[in-house]
Amino acid sequence: MANKPNLSPDSKIIIVGAGIFGLSTALHLTKRGYKNIHIFDRQPFDKNHYAEDLGAHGASCDLNKIIRASYGGEKLYQDLAFKAMPVWTQWNDELARSEKADLPEALDPEIKLWHNCGFLRLSRDGLERKERETQEGFPEGIRHTQFRVSDAQRVRDAVREGIPKTKIDPFRRGERGLPVDGVLDMTAGFALASRACTWVLHLLKKTGSVTTYFGEGNGLESLTQTGDKITSITTSSGSTHPADLVIVACGGWTPSLIPSTEPLLETTSGSVLAVQLPPKTSRPDLWSKYSEDNFPVWSWNMASYTPHSADHIGGLYGLPVTPEGVVKVAFRGAKWTNYTRKTSDGKTALSYPRTDLDKVPAEAMRVLRSFCEENLPDLLELPLSTIRLCWYTDSVDNSFLIDYVPDVANLVVASGGSGHGFKFLPVLGECVVDVVEGRDTEYTRLFSWRDVPSGKRNGLEEGPEGWRVLGKQRLVGGREWKGGVGSKL
Ligand SMILES: Cc1cc2nc3c(=O)[nH]c(=O)nc-3n(C[C@H](O)[C@H](O)[C@H](O)COP(=O)(O)OP(=O)(O)OC[C@H]3O[C@@H](n4cnc5c(N)ncnc54)[C@H](O)[C@@H]3O)c2cc1C
Ligand SMILES: *[C@@H]1O[C@H](CO)[C@@H](O)[C@H](O)[C@H]1NC(C)=O
Repeated sequence: MANKPNLSPDSKIIIVGAGIFGLSTALHLTKRGYKNIHIFDRQPFDKNHYAEDLGAHGASCDLNKIIRASYGGEKLYQDLAFKAMPVWTQWNDELARSEKADLPEALDPEIKLWHNCGFLRLSRDGLERKERETQEGFPEGIRHTQFRVSDAQRVRDAVREGIPKTKIDPFRRGERGLPVDGVLDMTAGFALASRACTWVLHLLKKTGSVTTYFGEGNGLESLTQTGDKITSITTSSGSTHPADLVIVACGGWTPSLIPSTEPLLETTSGSVLAVQLPPKTSRPDLWSKYSEDNFPVWSWNMASYTPHSADHIGGLYGLPVTPEGVVKVAFRGAKWTNYTRKTSDGKTALSYPRTDLDKVPAEAMRVLRSFCEENLPDLLELPLSTIRLCWYTDSVDNSFLIDYVPDVANLVVASGGSGHGFKFLPVLGECVVDVVEGRDTEYTRLFSWRDVPSGKRNGLEEGPEGWRVLGKQRLVGGREWKGGVGSKL
């Protein structure tokens, strides 16, 4: 192993990538006293405020993301999520106390970042195994926040506590006598994602210890290495920046930048549709139905999707309406790949994000439509405002990858979000800084560099031969949605 760098508060630390991994890392570096932090991203986040409709992309740029501690008994992740929640609440309070004039234009003291509206995890045929494990693994002290929808007593308890019936049966399946089971988890909810990133960037700017380099020209082009040390980075505009430590947090682009991660990470995508509600004044009923006061974050049959089967609709989730009147529904039963690059040795193909498509595979559209036909038919009548593939970075075991790159003294990778990283924005960077400083914790071990397992490895074993490659899909746009497309598409 290479010698780790000896860092001091003035050491120059470069972070490449300003998604949640990069942002949280910078935040916790400042908390530990580092004062010379430089963040690079080729997207102009200071101008577009991480907003998708202004062209921002990357997993962290999104309307909203689910915040939950339901990890099927994976205690370290569960604990980390419960640790993040109070910080989300604290951020809400700090934002609410801010003056509008002191905030970036995308933020408003009236609009919270984190919304504790509850998460209803449903399935058709009894509780899924992961849900049973989640319920068994949750601490005694929060049992009262869990409401099993098939337990008449718990449903009565919920109603007595003032939780609207619509949060337990938002699709009226119980009322219609359709099969359904699941749990309403009132510890959970969602964050307004792009706004939360903008908030952290705002906190970073206020520290005075962080310089940002955003926009075209500021992409990482190459790393210069002397012996076992990275001495500088060169950007796409050709400028060179020396560094004592470089942290690469480039989400789905990471495998194409750090070759040794190629076997451990795979770039894949989820299919996301955003339905635009009509103005509140013309359809107050819909705004009320989908408001977080009445409607929970939900998921449906997360464990039982069968490709191309009419009987096994699953792998779907959705969220309450955003302040802009958008209701998001998404499919992650199959994560799509696009093997358009080569691995560093030129021998095999490498999946790489494709962010310019206003389309999703027909299979994703089929699943989302058929779910909505049965459960949310009113959404089908409305136009879509966005159709999008959102790019994950899956790791071989679905755990994050945060470690020094083997045989390089001062290069750290922080990635492998695997579709569940966002909720940890307030706390994740603490683990990254522990890694940087060479501390040994349960988390640094969980996220450490690992051997590639043989056999099944979170879908990565399928590679370019798998059925999930985009090249094998028929791609469809909003015309396949009954309500068609809105003016924005
Ligand atoms: C569809 C979808 C739904 C999800 N839902 C949830 C959820 O509900 N709850 C949850 O907790 N998590 C969720 N996640 C996971 C979460 O969004 C990710 O784990 C997290 O956002 C990953 O952050 P990141 O910083 O690794 O990557 P990204 O946000 O993708 O950021 C990477 C950044 O690197 C930059 N970059 C790339 N190449 C270069 C270069 N050469 N030079 C400079 N910069 C570069 C990019 O511009 C980008 O800004 C979801 C993910 C997806 C895709
Ligand atoms: C990548 O995706 C595009 C868009 O769907 C598709 O046309 C192309 O064939 C894909 N490439 C591969 C190698 O799958």
